[in-house]
Amino acid sequence: MNKRGFIFDLDGVIVDTAKYHFLAWKKLANDLGIDFTEHQNEQLKGVSRVKSLEKILDWGGISLSEDAFQDQMNKKNTDYLSYIETMKEDEILVDVPKVLDYLKNEKQPLALGSASKNARKILKKVSLYDSFDAIVDGTNVTKAKPDPEVFLKAAEELEIHPEQCVVFEDSIAGVQAANKANMISIGIGEQDVLSEADFVFKDFSEISIDFLTQLINKQ
Ligand code: BG6
Ligand code: MG
Repeated sequence: MNKRGFIFDLDGVIVDTAKYHFLAWKKLANDLGIDFTEHQNEQLKGVSRVKSLEKILDWGGISLSEDAFQDQMNKKNTDYLSYIETMKEDEILVDVPKVLDYLKNEKQPLALGSASKNARKILKKVSLYDSFDAIVDGTNVTKAKPDPEVFLKAAEELEIHPEQCVVFEDSIAGVQAANKANMISIGIGEQDVLSEADFVFKDFSEISIDFLTQLINKQ
């Protein structure tokens, strides 16, 4: 049996938290008098907290002192944490357990590769913390997606060559990171947004066991 490394992004791939990041960023931007659209939000997906705030301030033509910047970062995270506080298994996205269980059964190494510093907390809340052989998150990397660092680190921890890895991502930055790492990129979302991915599915219900088997056996 062939072995591939399967690397999953968290927010918007495993759990429905992308909507909470959106709400928290929108509130922060609007409070600063900056408009915030869904299109701009796509550019923040997968991107670290620091980089996201830098982008928002840039769009609004605002510059902040270091202290004020830190205050805004804390505010955003407090707001975000209030949304995820009561999260449970029911916020795991459709058919994610089906795919995780199948891959696990096939003895495929599984990793989490997320930009979020809250990743471990969220995995525990939805009882998926023990489902991965490796977890690399925002506390383990210095470079934000689209830099491939997070996925290369995950591959290293799984002891699988990057070219043998598959990445599931809902963000443009994440798909670009996977491509830069020479991994197979699978976009979860809209084809027109994630057009750089090798494959795109609306959600995991569209991913068949046949497709996964072919991925495992692909030379
Ligand atoms: C990514 C999200 O997974 O993590 C981004 O797509 C988010 O929206 C980033 O900004 C950082 O997350 P956190 O939880 O560390 O603020
Ligand atoms: Mg994501």
